[in-house]
Amino acid sequence: MLMPRNRAGARPRALPRRAAQAFASALLAAATVTALSHSAAAADTLGSAAAGKGRYFGTAVAASHLGESAYAATLDREFSAVTPENEMKWDATEPTRNTFSFGAADQIVSHAQSKGMKIRGHTLVWHSQLPSWVSGLSATDLRTAMNNHITQVMQHYKGKIYAWDVVNEAYQDGSSGARRSSPFQDKLGNGFIEEAFRTARTADPDAKLCYNDYNTDGVNAKSNAVYNMVKDFKSRGVPIDCVGFQSHFNSASPVPSDYQANLQRFADLGVDVQITELDIEGSGSAQATSYSNVVKACLAVTRCTGMTVWGITDKYSWRSSGTPLLFDSNYAPKPAYDAVLAALGGSSSGGGDDGGGGDNGGGTGATCTVSFTKTADWNDGYNGQVTVKAGSAPITGWTTTVTFPAGQKVSTLWNGSASWDGSGTVMTVRPTYNGNLAAGASTSFGFTVQKNGNSAVPTVGTCTAS
Ligand code: G3I
Repeated sequence: MLMPRNRAGARPRALPRRAAQAFASALLAAATVTALSHSAAAADTLGSAAAGKGRYFGTAVAASHLGESAYAATLDREFSAVTPENEMKWDATEPTRNTFSFGAADQIVSHAQSKGMKIRGHTLVWHSQLPSWVSGLSATDLRTAMNNHITQVMQHYKGKIYAWDVVNEAYQDGSSGARRSSPFQDKLGNGFIEEAFRTARTADPDAKLCYNDYNTDGVNAKSNAVYNMVKDFKSRGVPIDCVGFQSHFNSASPVPSDYQANLQRFADLGVDVQITELDIEGSGSAQATSYSNVVKACLAVTRCTGMTVWGITDKYSWRSSGTPLLFDSNYAPKPAYDAVLAALGGSSSGGGDDGGGGDNGGGTGATCTVSFTKTADWNDGYNGQVTVKAGSAPITGWTTTVTFPAGQKVSTLWNGSASWDGSGTVMTVRPTYNGNLAAGASTSFGFTVQKNGNSAVPTVGTCTAS
């Protein structure tokens, strides 16, 4: 049950529940009434409330934060599943060909195992966070390297992973329903996804094998393309068990009205569905309502087996300035937390502050800077990322230009919206959802470029802030 707000709009601090937890912990430590402490916690945390509905409630975790006591305590108290945020990606696990490094991911896996949490593996084949040695391989070599990577990583964690995101983000945004250009797509063709799933099934037959993507949360051209792929896989016996819906939302990309219907149509193909990277920018009751709607949609779909939020605290979110998570920077539960717990059928006797948020101001003194990085490179294409950083004052919007060398064509742009000059070489980019930045905070947009014979790098112009 939610506590009434006081005059300042904030709920009283969560003393009763926290006190109960402290008491329960003390009892546990004394190894006396274990059964009582378990039942006291039964519907008082996200993980236990979700368990009451036969679901897990997970979070992305970064190994580098596990040593922070408030981070680990919140993780251990609230969540029943984890996804390593970056530590299982190709650049982390096989930075050099055939040299595997599992240290950071192992840390998360052993922490999760010691707490009885499920583990989602993220991710085996993705165009991003791909070491440059992979992008440079010939088709034959790339096929061998992809299958070897899947096999080695999955066998290392064999028996420990609930579900693997075998292939991540293979489709383009927009209305084309086409595959995204990537070393895998460009060199191995459409069959690379099927091959990856077949290799994965052999490597760890007990792990659920998922396809995971973003902007597929409602019925649209992109989700239709994924739907058709899953349908085709099921009809031909290609091993696929689940589809992940990342669910990164904000005001420009809100929770779609057909979210539940979309989850359901995939489930009806005979796969599990999971909400894999949930975060919703905003604050207060609007954010809480959106979170609640997402949870209710999952619970209404029998084959929606669990939900994962993309981080614990706003302070470490990949888009921190949008305050998209359930706990604020001081680990206080936000209204969104209460809403999620309530939607899961749990009960909270408190809930922290109101998360009032507020705008970032902008106006006088608003400045920004931009920098360019090439994040992946292959024979006829590359991925670029431009980081936009606010100066010493908050900003509410930004604009910058990227000028491309002759012949190059941008095939995909994400986290920004573009307009072009008459010559088709100067791209002016504005934010989509990511215009508000706190002082010193940054965001980034990215793009995939077809080189068309010209390997030079683009030039970024100046950044204009409002
Ligand atoms: O760890 C290094 C640090 O040593 C270095 O000083 C610093 C300088 O930039 O970079 C740090 O690595 C960053 C890493 O996050 C850890 O913070 C990388 O630059 C940065 O690119 C990386 O961003 C991750 C992003 O994926 C990369 O694409 C985010 O943390 C992670 O949340 C995000 O997650 C993705 C999912 O995997 C797929 N779906 C979208 C989602 C959000 O973008």
